[in-house]
Amino acid sequence: MPLDENQIASRDQFERQSRNYGKTHILADVSDIAAAIEGLEIPRGGMALDIATGGGHTAVWLAENGWTVTASDLSPAMLERASELADEHDVKITTAVHEAERLPYPDGTFQIVTCRVAAHHFTDQAGFVREAARVLAPGGVFLLIDGSVPDGESEAEAWIHAVEKFRDPSHGRFLPPCGWADLVREAGLNVLRCTTTPFKQPDLEWYFETAGTTQDNRAKVRALISYPPEEAKRVFRLAQEPDGKITWWWLRLTLIARK
Ligand SMILES: C[S@@+](CC[C@H](N)C(=O)[O-])C[C@H]1O[C@@H](n2cnc3c(N)ncnc32)[C@H](O)[C@@H]1O
Repeated sequence: MPLDENQIASRDQFERQSRNYGKTHILADVSDIAAAIEGLEIPRGGMALDIATGGGHTAVWLAENGWTVTASDLSPAMLERASELADEHDVKITTAVHEAERLPYPDGTFQIVTCRVAAHHFTDQAGFVREAARVLAPGGVFLLIDGSVPDGESEAEAWIHAVEKFRDPSHGRFLPPCGWADLVREAGLNVLRCTTTPFKQPDLEWYFETAGTTQDNRAKVRALISYPPEEAKRVFRLAQEPDGKITWWWLRLTLIARK
């Protein structure tokens, strides 16, 4: 099946911007992954699939922690970056080009399936979760980390969607925690943990550069930031720092489920 419009937009966006998701990106700090599984009985080792691996930070973490890793993404350029990172860390990963919504693996292939800070791009988030559940072996673990929005704050949600869409038109949709938990249960997995933690967007200008936001769209985002609804200001703690940087705090969702 050919890629849909949204998948093409994501692939092209990350083909262009792949070099901005390496060591200097905030995603290079993988402490959230270790924290996500802390205290849970998750045996290290076995087959792992990292979906939408981007710069490969999660895939490399998995490989360093004993898993045999397939790192997949829509963008071949991102997979090259992921392979370079694996080489630098002296670990092996296998790469595969495919979309998150259709996984070319038999049922029950993997002991862990991960997807970190990417699912908000996907066209069919329910289909992605169903596919992740299908390729997990019985007892296998699904780890999802992504930006999220609080339940019941519709004005704030609309505002962050508008900001994200102008900044990076391949943005799809942040789902609230209940939305993800429902999709995961409907796919037949047991939710072990579903939490959100605040996570700082460190500087609007850095954020624009990372995505290669057009000048027109930067102006639109600045306009949204100049006149935000009160709810968005409160929920995202939108601020101008003493050094002039514009920052806010997202909710970062961590969901762990077992098959
Ligand atoms: C921010 S990066 C991911 C970060 C990475 N997971 C990490 O832990 O550092 C987002 C990635 O999602 C990929 N992507 C977006 N939509 C996709 C889809 N439908 N299927 C597969 N990959 C997709 C992009 O190509 C990009 O590499």
